[in-house]
Amino acid sequence: MAQLYIRAGEPLQGHLRIPGDKSISNRFVILTALAEGESHARGWLASDDTLTSLRCMAALGAEVERPAEDEVIVWGRGLRSLQEPSDVLHCASSGTTMRLLAGLTAGQPFLTILTGSEQLRRRPMGRIAIPLRQMGTTIMGRENDTLPPLAIRGGHLSGIDYQMPIASAQVKSAILLAGLFADGPTTVHEPAPSRDHTERMVQAMGGFIAREGLDVRITPPTSPLSPIDLDVPGDISSAAFLIAAALLIPGSDVTLEGVGVNPTRAGFLDALTMMGCHVERVNERSSGGEPIADLHIRAAETLKATTLGGELVPRMIDEFPILAVLATQAEGETVVRDAAELRVKESDRVATIVEELRKLGAHIDPADDGFVVEGPTKLQGATVDAHGDHRLAMALAIAGLIAEGETVVDGAECVDKSFPQFPQMLAQLGADVLW
Ligand code: S3P
Repeated sequence: MAQLYIRAGEPLQGHLRIPGDKSISNRFVILTALAEGESHARGWLASDDTLTSLRCMAALGAEVERPAEDEVIVWGRGLRSLQEPSDVLHCASSGTTMRLLAGLTAGQPFLTILTGSEQLRRRPMGRIAIPLRQMGTTIMGRENDTLPPLAIRGGHLSGIDYQMPIASAQVKSAILLAGLFADGPTTVHEPAPSRDHTERMVQAMGGFIAREGLDVRITPPTSPLSPIDLDVPGDISSAAFLIAAALLIPGSDVTLEGVGVNPTRAGFLDALTMMGCHVERVNERSSGGEPIADLHIRAAETLKATTLGGELVPRMIDEFPILAVLATQAEGETVVRDAAELRVKESDRVATIVEELRKLGAHIDPADDGFVVEGPTKLQGATVDAHGDHRLAMALAIAGLIAEGETVVDGAECVDKSFPQFPQMLAQLGADVLW
């Protein structure tokens, strides 16, 4: 088991390019296999989750090549080009891979069986099985079709109107992918906007997707989808850890280049503004239909507590572990609510954040749908556990950078899921981190 050893040290300084966005990298390999022609991605994230998507797509007959670590070429052979996989598809610990592939294979005239790690086999799949079954596919799983493995016998699909009970981009994307193969339009109503990378990429490929308020409507294409050429934006969910570190360590001055600032993902930056600190966006531009910017971060002079909930939650759903660390240094009571989804991520993030930050001396209490942190507190180094959760591991490492003495993060190998370069990049900025 890998460990990270962290100590407080010098201010962070430097200029870095953040690795590619995980959600966009996953979607690139899944969607471009359906185009006709050669699609090219540069700055593609090579991580456990995205490589899992790549392998699964190859098993479905997609022709893919990686000329460099962060470059992928997909030779799409059209909407109807996928083939029945000769074996079970292993989605490792990638919820995005399993849910998006369930949507994709729901529209294929063959049998697909999706399984994954013990961690993934505990994550809820009823949320995709219900709408996909309404569209006409046969989908079965353990525990009354709610848990993986999933067996999907795809085939003829009808368009549906679906009211999503939760804001989830994975569920929305599964339905939209199936909608590409349906016999008419499909409309998804979201309770609040979740990340819209699927919509943007399908549009960039010439597909018909329209958003109106909280409704997203897809119309099956009548002509082939076009290949795309993509510079993948830097992942704001990875950047968030380095942003927090630079804000928390006095004297820091860091620039992160080419970070995706799509409003459906940038809720963390809005939360920081609410906490009284500012991240400067420089050189705002767009890349592959996605807004990007360089982010300039200086140490925060003050951090004030705030209340976070409502529509902000899906726009920063992966950033709550690091937000909790920031909240330990904020003046007053930070309240997170409407975030029950945290309980079904790679770990039960309400329970694990509370358990592990308490080991460092934080004043944090769980709630059914979030947590409450009282700050500021001087953290004390300790040995903490990542619970197999990449975002918890990285949040705890950042907490270690402002704690007294040494912090050890056990089980830190899980950072490879989304940000394998995390320890190296922290060290490059001058942090005292060993692995
Ligand atoms: C993702 C959506 C989010 C997020 C996950 C990636 C995606 O999950 O937590 O890391 O790529 O669509 P939910 O859709 O379950 O909120």
